[in-house]
Amino acid sequence: MKGIYIFLMMLLFASPVLHAHEPSFMSNVYGREYRFLNGKWNVIIDQYEHGKTRSIYKNRKPQSNEQFYEYSFEGGLRLNVPGDWNSQLPELKYFEGTVWYARHFQVDSIENRRQFLYFGAVSYRCNVYLNGTKAGSHEGGFTPFQIEVTGKLLKGDNFIVVEVNNRRTEDAVPALVFDWWNYGGITRDVMLVETPEVFIKDYFIQLDKHQPDMIHAEISLSEKVSEQVCIEIPELKILHNVTTDGNGFAKISFHARKIVRWSPDDPKLYKVILTSGKDRVTDEIGFRNIEVEGTKILVNGKPVFMRCISFHEEIPQRQGRAFSQADAVMLLSEAEALGANMVRLAHYPQNEYIVRLAEKKGILLWQEIPVWQDIDFEDKDTRLKAQRMLADMIFRDRNRCAVGFWSIANETLPSEARNSFLSSLLEVGKSLDTTRLYTAAFYMARYEKNSGAFEMKDDFPEQLDVVAINKYLGWYHPWPVDPSEVAWNVCPTKPLIFSEFGGEALYGQSGDENVASSWSEDYQAKLYRDNLEMFKHIPNLAGISPWILFDFRSPYRYHPVNQEGWNRKGLVSDQGYRKKAWYLIHDYYMQIKNNVR
Ligand code: GCU
Repeated sequence: MKGIYIFLMMLLFASPVLHAHEPSFMSNVYGREYRFLNGKWNVIIDQYEHGKTRSIYKNRKPQSNEQFYEYSFEGGLRLNVPGDWNSQLPELKYFEGTVWYARHFQVDSIENRRQFLYFGAVSYRCNVYLNGTKAGSHEGGFTPFQIEVTGKLLKGDNFIVVEVNNRRTEDAVPALVFDWWNYGGITRDVMLVETPEVFIKDYFIQLDKHQPDMIHAEISLSEKVSEQVCIEIPELKILHNVTTDGNGFAKISFHARKIVRWSPDDPKLYKVILTSGKDRVTDEIGFRNIEVEGTKILVNGKPVFMRCISFHEEIPQRQGRAFSQADAVMLLSEAEALGANMVRLAHYPQNEYIVRLAEKKGILLWQEIPVWQDIDFEDKDTRLKAQRMLADMIFRDRNRCAVGFWSIANETLPSEARNSFLSSLLEVGKSLDTTRLYTAAFYMARYEKNSGAFEMKDDFPEQLDVVAINKYLGWYHPWPVDPSEVAWNVCPTKPLIFSEFGGEALYGQSGDENVASSWSEDYQAKLYRDNLEMFKHIPNLAGISPWILFDFRSPYRYHPVNQEGWNRKGLVSDQGYRKKAWYLIHDYYMQIKNNVR
């Protein structure tokens, strides 16, 4: 009896792990039949979040002389979709609450097809209503979601309403305080997607973790039916037919003898065509190996030093969220000019335009979910939210060869609850993708006088493929000894990426290079010279990532002269001007790239 009791108790208190084998949206939406619902949407600002009580999503109009309604979506404010609301209307710069978005759209034919509303992202939570009836909801500001509307669409005029709320809450991911702007809104593309009755819902086609010419493919259909699926890579003269099982799932592995592997130096992509029944999905997929060997990171079997840089999903000149192809070109072109071969997309999954353009440019990516500092690691719902975000990030981008790293956390403090939370994330991640490297950024490395080295009392990093350290020597922390004498003893048998370092400087401000409060480019440049000196003495250093490429907006950067609500650690100013430190990193990366370092 006791055994059964113990078993039941174990079940009851087992850490909840999302069974994330089911993606919550179709993969590669841009390779399907869709139309944008982007453009000007009508909006109502609902500061007291009272619109739902009034059912304003029904968009009622007076039907008699006595009737009236104290709202109307027509004739009022409008916002561009996609886009955050903070940068579009001055009264919304700091707004945290609910904004109702609405628009009409016409549908001509709906026979024998299925229709889905697909949102690239809505920040932070939302309810979606179609033609006056609730159609779905979502929480999480940086991953896609879809709502099937087959049978709910009207031939002719349809009316969609999205109730968006960006309030920060303790149980959210991220939670109450984070060092970036709390943008709200429908911040990425909105599409109406059409599919056949049975369609290819999800697939994962990647090179084997270690072999240079073995491709593994998994395909899931939308229905639990057995159907033939054809996988074609025309340039490699590969065509394979496979039949899905009773769950609509099939997998196949095959050699591709003549394959040219994707790499930063040769970002080769292949057209891949998947067909099944009436469905046809096309994609461009790169095939590469990424793995760890000792303290080295290997791409296609060769050690690569990660010349990384971070950026937020923000266009500083527009003071708003990045969301378009043109934005992706701006951000990645500046990273490329710096000499980077990798970008850390901080601190959340960024839009697909950035991911796909990085792939074309040969820029490796580190993608992460916003488990940033103080998350409620004890809350089981918060844990499930983080697991869903990780699963959706992986489902969306696991065919994107530029993504080499999945990061599950940034600057979390050691505790049993945190370790359990992060271990469950690793479990979910590895159930979906074992081809990439798992990492996380830590900030509790401390200088130990008796050893004369920085060490970190945190046992979690041992579970990761690559350990990452954020440390602001010369800014938040004074140098304990001369930079040339600083030793590091953190996970010495693993590759270590210095995932954040740097300091603030107001572009154009000169001052004493030894005085931090000069907020000068001179001080920032000396800080960079000192860190570059230190990097010479870290045996397991496999990459660096200065924080950060551009000055970015943050509500708790209060200094009225030097910050004005901006974090000034950028190598480039909010107006797009390169600071002195930019040139130091550029020269350093060029020397590494040309093997002269
Ligand atoms: C932290 C954090 C960043 C933040 C940075 C800073 O390390 O990871 O998100 O912006 O420090 O303080 O500038």
